[in-house]
Amino acid sequence: MRTETTNIMRDARPPKRMRRQSSSLPENMNGISDGEIFSVRMSDKDFVRLSEFIRSSCGIKLPPAKKTMLEGRLRKRLRALSIRSFERYCEFLFSPDGSESEYIHMIDAVTTNKTDFFREPDHFDFLFERALPELVGLYGDGARKKFNVWSAACSTGEEPYTLAMVLSEFSQCCPGFGFSILATDISTAVLEKARSGIYEHDRVIPVPMELRKKYLLKSRKKETGLVRIAPELRNSVQFGRLNLQEEEYGINVPISILFCRNVLIYFDRPTQEKLLKRLSQHLMPGGYLFVGHSESLHGMDLPLVQTATTIYRKQQ
Ligand SMILES: C[S@@+](CC[C@H](N)C(=O)[O-])C[C@H]1O[C@@H](n2cnc3c(N)ncnc32)[C@H](O)[C@@H]1O
Repeated sequence: MRTETTNIMRDARPPKRMRRQSSSLPENMNGISDGEIFSVRMSDKDFVRLSEFIRSSCGIKLPPAKKTMLEGRLRKRLRALSIRSFERYCEFLFSPDGSESEYIHMIDAVTTNKTDFFREPDHFDFLFERALPELVGLYGDGARKKFNVWSAACSTGEEPYTLAMVLSEFSQCCPGFGFSILATDISTAVLEKARSGIYEHDRVIPVPMELRKKYLLKSRKKETGLVRIAPELRNSVQFGRLNLQEEEYGINVPISILFCRNVLIYFDRPTQEKLLKRLSQHLMPGGYLFVGHSESLHGMDLPLVQTATTIYRKQQ
């Protein structure tokens, strides 16, 4: 997969609507104490403004019950900007000066990035034992044309690096098998962490020991307790920013395996269906879509057939 064929590497830009409004920089740049920041409350009006904007720009639904959560997550932005009220924060966010810089930070603050290596492990068993042999049977070993795998909503990288381990293992049983992994997310902060390929030792516990020995390197300074993804594995993954809510994804290579897990739950049903239609267009016939274990495509009009729990296949 060549990233020059995609538009995902461009800078995170706020929606045009934000860039038109009048300028309003934060007026008070003095530091804010812990006590002061925790007493700042979000009004219902500001919550509606922010939650509607978040839903329309990145699809994440925030019903009124999520107000306290949003308040908590955006307080760190108020503190970073030394802004003393959510009203002023909205003015700043929706101004041209604010929108250019703040949109990215706001998205980083409001997204939930929980992930793990080998999360929902039966997906990786299915991939190795069933999906990959079937795809090789259908399209050949990938020696001439690589298999393209996409981890949409990859968070801090554990999912695409798990895929890279499983695909590398498969290539050892299937000589000539070639693959390339694209990993995308809306949050620039998680992508930065993912690209570094460096994790706390506790994070890699779900990785089976024989794979740890092959694909993870211990830090030279043992006391840091950090591990690094081996360079060959890191080089098989290309990271880029992509908002699933955009009309065009700019990916023009056919995808054989698509992991879009634990992100649909943040969207409402019509948005889920719209995004899944768009995602399905990128899958090659016979290609597989994996969604999270609490996500369901039941009742949606999509060119996909269910083959196992939370695993779907594009019609051939
Ligand atoms: C809970 S994590 C899931 C990570 C991984 N797929 C997994 O299952 O472990 C959800 C990710 O979706 C990303 N996300 C949320 N809205 C998005 C959008 N509109 N476009 C792309 N990514 C989005 C978040 O930044 C977050 O990293």
